[in-house]
Amino acid sequence: LDHFVSVEDLTNEEVLTLIKRASQFKKGTISAQVMEPLYAVNLFFENSTRTHKSFEMAEKKLGIEIIDFEPSTSSIKKGESLYDTVLTMSALGTEIAVIRDSKEAFYTELINSPSIKCSIINGGDGTGQHPSQCLLDLMTIYEEYGHFDGLKVAIIGDLKHSRVAKSNMHMLKRLGAEVLFSGPTEWMDDSFTEYGRYAALDDLVYEADVIMLLRVQHERHESYNDALITSYLDQYGINELREKNMKPSAILMHPAPVNRDVELQSSLVECERSRIVAQMSNGVFARMAILEAIIAGRTKNKTTL
Ligand code: CP
Repeated sequence: LDHFVSVEDLTNEEVLTLIKRASQFKKGTISAQVMEPLYAVNLFFENSTRTHKSFEMAEKKLGIEIIDFEPSTSSIKKGESLYDTVLTMSALGTEIAVIRDSKEAFYTELINSPSIKCSIINGGDGTGQHPSQCLLDLMTIYEEYGHFDGLKVAIIGDLKHSRVAKSNMHMLKRLGAEVLFSGPTEWMDDSFTEYGRYAALDDLVYEADVIMLLRVQHERHESYNDALITSYLDQYGINELREKNMKPSAILMHPAPVNRDVELQSSLVECERSRIVAQMSNGVFARMAILEAIIAGRTKNKTTL
């Protein structure tokens, strides 16, 4: 891989190879270390715990040198653009830039620049895509079922504002899963019907193999809807009653952070069928597989700085 910015750029075969490689890292049946110094910078212009810190952990496990970057003390504060920041990091010798930014498709101008030599990894672009989250989610489902074909995966909640939902609906459909949607209808978009059908939550809990909850993204809403949030768990969330109605083998997922007692009753966050903690752990291994594929691509292309 030259860059890792959108699931649309990945073939099914590449996704399955990355999942298998990530699982091998997890089992410890393989390990990888860079052979010569390689430098990465993690540029997070939106808040993050899991994505930022699991990329950092993955980089450390692979022996990659991390160049510290703190937006609040950088020249971003003097008005420097993302493009000029990445151009600078590239000129300094950074080979990989993991970036999260609120601007959708921020990566387009970076990967098309003849001057920027860094490989770009998208750590989340506004409401666009979250491809590394998608990979760790797919890995978590694959660990459970060993395939995607015919699995019923329900994606529930703030679909409209969720980059996780957009990456996942695309890849799950392409890999043969049946995608179902639920949640407030004002957060449904006509474009999603290409990937799956909308169903009432109390109907789909009985049939889903995977229930994937989405965080209510207050920061992307125009105003705080107190009435909706107060009644959200009862209307659109998974509470203990709905959890009991799930198929015995079905699993619960959430990209986290979880708004406890909103999308999911707090007592269920670590319940037996919850894979939320596994998702966080898998994030490290999925990101190791992504970094390894990027490094292999750079070596193949003999990119020099
Ligand atoms: N799931 C996820 O992207 O979490 P962070 O925002 O903490 O990175």
